[in-house]
Amino acid sequence: MRVMLIVDGERHNLDADTGRTLADVLGTECGIAGYRVACPDGTCGACAVTLDGDEIRSCLMLAVQADGAKVTTIGDR
Ligand code: FES
Repeated sequence: MRVMLIVDGERHNLDADTGRTLADVLGTECGIAGYRVACPDGTCGACAVTLDGDEIRSCLMLAVQADGAKVTTIGDR
């Protein structure tokens, strides 16, 4: 499935399997330096980003759910 994200002001058009998390796509497809997933259960907050202004934990969201959204990573806040 095609997914479009605006990450830290840069547009990304990606192929994302429906089961991939936003965290996975940010780290591997968008090349966000220093971005990491640090826990297996969504408790640590290391993957936190803002999605259209709301803070979320990107390891708990599927990339396809974020299609069309503006994502701001911790490095750009
Ligand atoms: S990696 Fe820990 S909350 Fe997402």
